[in-house]
Amino acid sequence: MQSQATYNYKVVRQFAVMTVIWGIVGMLVGVIIAAQLVWPELNVHEWLSYGRLRPLHTNAVIFAFGGCALFATSYFAVQRTSHAPLFAPGLAAFTFWGWQLIIVLAAISLPLGMTSGKEYAELEWPIDILITLVWVSYAVVFFGTIVKRTISHIYVANWFFGGFILTVAVLHLVNSAAVPVTLFKSYSAYAGVQDAMVQWWYGHNAVGFFLTAGFLGMMYYFVPKQAGRPVYSYRLSVVHFWALIFTYMWAGPHHLHYTALPDWTQSVGMIFSLILLAPSWGGMINGIMTLSGAWHKLRDDPILKFMITSLSFYGMSTFEGPMMSIKTVNALSHYTDWTVGHVHSGALGWVAMISIGSIYYLLPRLFGKPEMASKKLIEVHFWVATIGVVLYIASMWIAGVMQGLMWRATNVDGTLTYSFVESVKATYPFWTIRLLGGLLFLSGMLIMAYNMFLTMAGGKAVNAPVLAPAAAH
Ligand code: HEM
Ligand code: HEM
Repeated sequence: MQSQATYNYKVVRQFAVMTVIWGIVGMLVGVIIAAQLVWPELNVHEWLSYGRLRPLHTNAVIFAFGGCALFATSYFAVQRTSHAPLFAPGLAAFTFWGWQLIIVLAAISLPLGMTSGKEYAELEWPIDILITLVWVSYAVVFFGTIVKRTISHIYVANWFFGGFILTVAVLHLVNSAAVPVTLFKSYSAYAGVQDAMVQWWYGHNAVGFFLTAGFLGMMYYFVPKQAGRPVYSYRLSVVHFWALIFTYMWAGPHHLHYTALPDWTQSVGMIFSLILLAPSWGGMINGIMTLSGAWHKLRDDPILKFMITSLSFYGMSTFEGPMMSIKTVNALSHYTDWTVGHVHSGALGWVAMISIGSIYYLLPRLFGKPEMASKKLIEVHFWVATIGVVLYIASMWIAGVMQGLMWRATNVDGTLTYSFVESVKATYPFWTIRLLGGLLFLSGMLIMAYNMFLTMAGGKAVNAPVLAPAAAH
């Protein structure tokens, strides 16, 4: 009965290692498309053209890199905090192999130009069905483990992971509803403005639940663990959960300002986006203040540096987002690189950094080592990544505001001061700086992979024993 007495770390290990691998692949594609904007002649073939690689980048970083990080951390946290090994290990193994298959199918079909045309939901219907199967299995494994728990309390991280799993299932099912025409082509079940509304209800909640709620689950488990302190305010964490999931649902229309969507819907979206600042900052403060009494640890713990810096970027992007949702501000920012800057302050600063910190926490524990092979290399990774993000987002902010101002500038006779192509020319230096920032961030991931393989080479796969019902997790 040895296997019942240990946690299932195998699937966590598989997802943790693939997080790093897919992180490198997805960010490499990001670097390539960033380079194509600087040197358009790099569009050497239709399969490798900007238009095909851009959705490959977003799918790879969000669903392959982010997805694997979420599977790894949620499977680890739910077992440890439930004092029970994963429910249905066979199904858990299926989620790993199924998810990898989906990623490979995406990597083939997107460059070939097969797409539903819906942003962040580009994959065609057969792959969508596979996603549904894997996701339902994920829900069964996750909630099955909660049901099997030997401790009555359900720790707050599991609420966030659970909310993310349930919501993503609903979002995926509703937004991907389509009429298949051939094996590789389908048309959305919705049309016109309804299609746009459903798409951005999905799109914004993909940000709110895939790119935020799940990663907040990560924060609530791994920040207290790494800091060796309890969550700053448990009560706040519960308020944070309900306020966040209620508010996110209504904010989608801020992606459709000044469109055919009824005006009042846009205003509702804007108001809920402004309200969203409060729960977002409540959570961010709760995470950062978890360090109170242990601030000195930040000085020489690079993993904690990743985590706390990620929370600072989370705070920044969730301040910026509500501001950009104000219609008059959006009139300037929409269509510009400001949006791209906002996206990556959330994506690189928050999502990638909290994942990197959590995976560094996990790897030695999964491979029977006291710590990562090189702490120095984690420190180097932290600085390279931080400088990379700052270069990326600062250049995009400047470029975005500049583009917005150039497009709206008029002469006294009412004609436009600048042609569009002049604004493109003026953006080149900023795209070059963004490319440099991306290269730095990618180099950090390569350093991480090297450190990971060193740690794996000196260790061996281990599964920790299940804690007794009364023991602390
Ligand atoms: C309070 C929280 C947030 C609010 C209110 C918010 C609001 C906004 C607004 C107004 C836009 C621009 C829409 C447009 O002009 O088209 C936007 C774009 C975007 N935001 Fe946020 N944001 C928030 C947090 C985040 C976070 C934390 C992330 C990432 C982890 C993120 C990822 C994105 C993405 C990916 C887009 C681009 C969508 C697209 O057009 O493809 N946001 N957000
Ligand atoms: C080395 C790191 C990265 C580089 C160089 C990079 C580069 C890029 C580039 C050049 C674009 C297209 C911008 C445009 O169309 O003007 C883009 C879009 C995007 N990237 Fe990244 N990226 C990186 C990492 C990430 C990560 C880690 C995530 C998510 C976790 C992410 C999420 C996105 C999203 C959601 C978009 C679409 C934004 C929109 O539609 O407004 N990226 N990225």
